[in-house]
Amino acid sequence: MAKILLTTTTERDRGKLRHALENAGHDVQIAADATSLLARVADERFDIVFVDAETTVDDPIDIVSFVRQSAPDTDIVILAEVGQLPLAAASIRRGATLYLIEPLEPSAVLAVIDSSLKRLSHALVVREVDTRTVDGFFGHSPAMSKLVRLIRKVAPTDATVLLTGESGTGKEVVANIIHRLSPRGQSGKMVPVNCGAIPENLLESELFGHMKGAFTCATQEKEGLLHEADRGTCFLDEIAEMPMQLQVKLLRFLQDRLVRRVGAVRSEKVDVRILAATNKNLLSEMASGRFREDLFFRLNVVQIYLPPLRERQDTIPFLVGTFLTRFVRQYRKQILGISAEAQSILMTYHYPGNIRELENILEYGCIMADGRNITEADLPPHVLAGRSAYVLPEHSSARDTAPLAPPAADEEPRTLAQMEADHIRAMLARCGGNQTMAAKLLGISRTSLWRKMQGLKAEA
Ligand SMILES: Nc1ncnc2c1ncn2[C@@H]1O[C@H](COP(=O)(O)OP(=O)(O)OP(=O)(O)O)[C@@H](O)[C@H]1O
Ligand SMILES: [Mg+2]
Repeated sequence: MAKILLTTTTERDRGKLRHALENAGHDVQIAADATSLLARVADERFDIVFVDAETTVDDPIDIVSFVRQSAPDTDIVILAEVGQLPLAAASIRRGATLYLIEPLEPSAVLAVIDSSLKRLSHALVVREVDTRTVDGFFGHSPAMSKLVRLIRKVAPTDATVLLTGESGTGKEVVANIIHRLSPRGQSGKMVPVNCGAIPENLLESELFGHMKGAFTCATQEKEGLLHEADRGTCFLDEIAEMPMQLQVKLLRFLQDRLVRRVGAVRSEKVDVRILAATNKNLLSEMASGRFREDLFFRLNVVQIYLPPLRERQDTIPFLVGTFLTRFVRQYRKQILGISAEAQSILMTYHYPGNIRELENILEYGCIMADGRNITEADLPPHVLAGRSAYVLPEHSSARDTAPLAPPAADEEPRTLAQMEADHIRAMLARCGGNQTMAAKLLGISRTSLWRKMQGLKAEA
């Protein structure tokens, strides 16, 4: 859930946007004009502030500067019309995070919020790493100590690293840490690229940049993300989703570190370290011809495998402590700890969504708890049932269609994809269509859920 401040104008109706945001489970507050927006921002912490380019007679650029100064962590999103593009671009230079052009597409706005929350959570983790040293960050179990030793060894080098492990095991967190521990943490930034979220035809120009006129909407020359990561690190997330044709270009880049913009004749040298991540099994992707073997070997110089949480239970108490501290502060609760029963349930649960799911469970617990301790009763029902969110609780009306109940012997066998589709629908129904809540129960990000839903729609 994001805490959002939205400005309204008399001319433009923000009602629809507000409705969509609230439906997705976000806390939306409204500021009628710039004065009240500034007062609220100075007073309270928001995750995201939407600034209407037409807010008032005040210059929106001044508003952006003010918000940036008083709330450095808050994301600022400018809502502009096509005619206000120069103003939107100027706001970015003054510290706005991005701009959205009207008419607003609610799903795009929700995706923006999702990635914003993810960034904030990673920023928090990075800050926690700063205050606690890397060793203190993963706990002290033997398996984690081995992982920390490996991270410390490879971080200061320029070696390409492939991060593998199930969803939610901390691949992006580790990528951040590697970047921060390397000299590149000082000289450049870490630029994340989600290879699965960018449409295939845009990915090349996003990565390599393009020249003016290279394709229809290339009205201006643009630098690619590899360029932006110069002297820093580029984090290629969901690398298995990269289209074959682009895999060839990435391979070439890994060999010569030359960037050639789409439509350009010449190439330029950049100094970028590549970290890549995937939750897919690249060996089977290669076997089925979806991933190039030569690229795999280029990426797999050092592989860091992050084991699922159910295989490193000894780190659970440590992580519980981390998240408890964070959420108690965030929700201003008087909670001091967690009851022995609740703790033992958390120790034996099997976490299909890994650390992200544990994080969500503790957020839920902190919201629910009334006393000094998080008790059994404050844990989500599916965790209490000792099962994953896959099995519906007794009282659920959707129980008759419990999608992952073991099939009866005489039942038609179903594919995994069908079971996933059924399960997603059941969880959405259970959450009354609230996608944020459903994504939480499923242990995936809202963007992933959204993408899966688009896939379902396309199939239907
Ligand atoms: N050691 C840790 N301590 C605290 N929080 C952690 C730790 N590792 C991961 N997290 C948190 O768990 C969540 C998932 O981490 P991350 O996004 O890095 O996973 P991922 O492996 O990239 O998942 P996906 O494959 O779904 O993208 C994040 O919210 C992150 O902040
Ligand atoms: Mg990730």
